[in-house]
Amino acid sequence: MHMSALHDRFGVEIRDVDLSAVTPQDGFSEIREAFDRHSLLVFRDQQLDDEAHLAFGRLFGTIEIRRKQPEKHTAEMSMVSNLRDDGSVAGEESRPVMQHKANQLWHTDSTFLPWPALANIIAPQVLSSSGGETEFVSTRAAWADMPEALREKIRGRVLRHSYAHSRKKIAEVAASEDFVQRWGDTAWNAVWPNPATGEEALYIASHAFGIVGMPDDEAQDLIDELIAFCTQPHYVYIHAYTLGDVVAWDERATMHRGRPWPYEEERSLASICVTAGEADGLELVRPAA
Ligand SMILES: [Fe+2]
Repeated sequence: MHMSALHDRFGVEIRDVDLSAVTPQDGFSEIREAFDRHSLLVFRDQQLDDEAHLAFGRLFGTIEIRRKQPEKHTAEMSMVSNLRDDGSVAGEESRPVMQHKANQLWHTDSTFLPWPALANIIAPQVLSSSGGETEFVSTRAAWADMPEALREKIRGRVLRHSYAHSRKKIAEVAASEDFVQRWGDTAWNAVWPNPATGEEALYIASHAFGIVGMPDDEAQDLIDELIAFCTQPHYVYIHAYTLGDVVAWDERATMHRGRPWPYEEERSLASICVTAGEADGLELVRPAA
């Protein structure tokens, strides 16, 4: 396995490994260690079908069941795509594209679920001629650099999250769909320490709409200030996908956002999320009762 840095604060590119051959006994411990340490892993030259993609995900933990998918994929596999079930491409003003626009807000996945995610693992299947990159930031690096006065405002606090909140920022219609309304609000500690490395990261997303015990206006201003601090240009790594990439990121220590692409062209990324377990520090992010 050969690793090289993607950004001076986080992220590594890994070559010379065949993910379809990795097992708990052979190769996974090095990958898991790199994941905990670097937060973002980009593997090149892979060939994972859905089954191999899911098998690799299961090495990290339980795969999150996401929404209803086109028949050719299981419920564990989410296609981040503008291709409709009937094979047509969804254009600029369509509902699927509105959901993609909400993905273009800085976030970490699944903070609105009762089971927060550990990882998202993406393998591109169809790429557009341009655009469609994913931008990442390290909320661990940003937290480490943050002025103490700002850290003090959020340390020990609990953030409230809702999927409908981030969708509402794009359009009411994007917030009203069944799968958006399915979940109630969640609450997670604003700082998630990694039990393997001891390093803390800010756990924040566009889904965050409030802070327990703080007036809403003040909370929203603080959330905006924290996200703005974390997403300064010097924290950003932009990943332009190549077929054969497998990109895995630590949801506990990063934020990401999608970039637009020419929506008249199909762009499909196979995406799975792995749910965080106790060994990933779940009890450390769960608010005290
Ligand atoms: Fe996402």
